Amino acid sequence: MKILIVLGSTRKSLPPKPPRLGARVAEALRAHLEADYPDDDVELIDPLDYDLGKVFKPHFAYASGHVPKALDALDALADQIRDADAYVMVSSEYNHSLSPALAHLLNHFGSSLYAYKPSLIVTYSAGQWGGVRAAVGMRTFLSELGCLPVSAMIHVPHAAEVLDEDGRYRKEEGAERWETYLQRGTTQLRWWADAAGEHRKAVDPHKLVGDFTRDPQQRNAPE
Ligand SMILES: Cc1cc2nc3c(=O)[nH]c(=O)nc-3n(C[C@H](O)[C@H](O)[C@H](O)COP(=O)(O)O)c2cc1C
Repeated sequence: MKILIVLGSTRKSLPPKPPRLGARVAEALRAHLEADYPDDDVELIDPLDYDLGKVFKPHFAYASGHVPKALDALDALADQIRDADAYVMVSSEYNHSLSPALAHLLNHFGSSLYAYKPSLIVTYSAGQWGGVRAAVGMRTFLSELGCLPVSAMIHVPHAAEVLDEDGRYRKEEGAERWETYLQRGTTQLRWWADAAGEHRKAVDPHKLVGDFTRDPQQRNAPE
């Protein structure tokens, strides 16, 4: 199974310290999945590895086969998103909403790349709420992308106190409880990914339902 973890932070600001709390949360998820499912292919997408430019031009806005050389990385990411069986979306909270860096990265790709596969919402915070308000909004966002979120969510309040920079639990005595908590979400994610993957093999949803390929008006109700 191919699982894509998408980190939703490009923050460089100090304060608040430490930078990019999300990196350690994403690493904790990667370590958890690799330990529990060694046969899975787990990849971590870091938005800092992509030059998304000043002007917003989504990947799908380039004519097929005409993505400029400089955007090879975006092309490769489109393939990774298409090939993935499941997504782990890691977000901080900005004004009670999901991270703009995560939204911006995901918005570069059409929903047909994400659709008919499950996602797991993972949020965190420096303070006490664990990003829960962002998480609620993420359900709508990810549903629109077609990668429906599983019911279990993972929230990590006080993330800098729970995890060190490499995503390891700071307190050994709490590690088992955290792992059990993570397992609920990742088990649901893999169950749905397995079920959806089998059914995609039997019936191609892209052919059955049809993807939107032209413009947003394709979604409109008849007049
Ligand atoms: C404009 C702005 C709005 C924020 N809003 C919230 C918020 O609503 N809830 C929250 O818990 N943290 C909020 N924060 C704090 C960030 O979530 C926090 O800095 C977090 O560590 C960012 O993730 P990162 O470290 O991975 O970049 C906000 C920060 C900024 C700059």
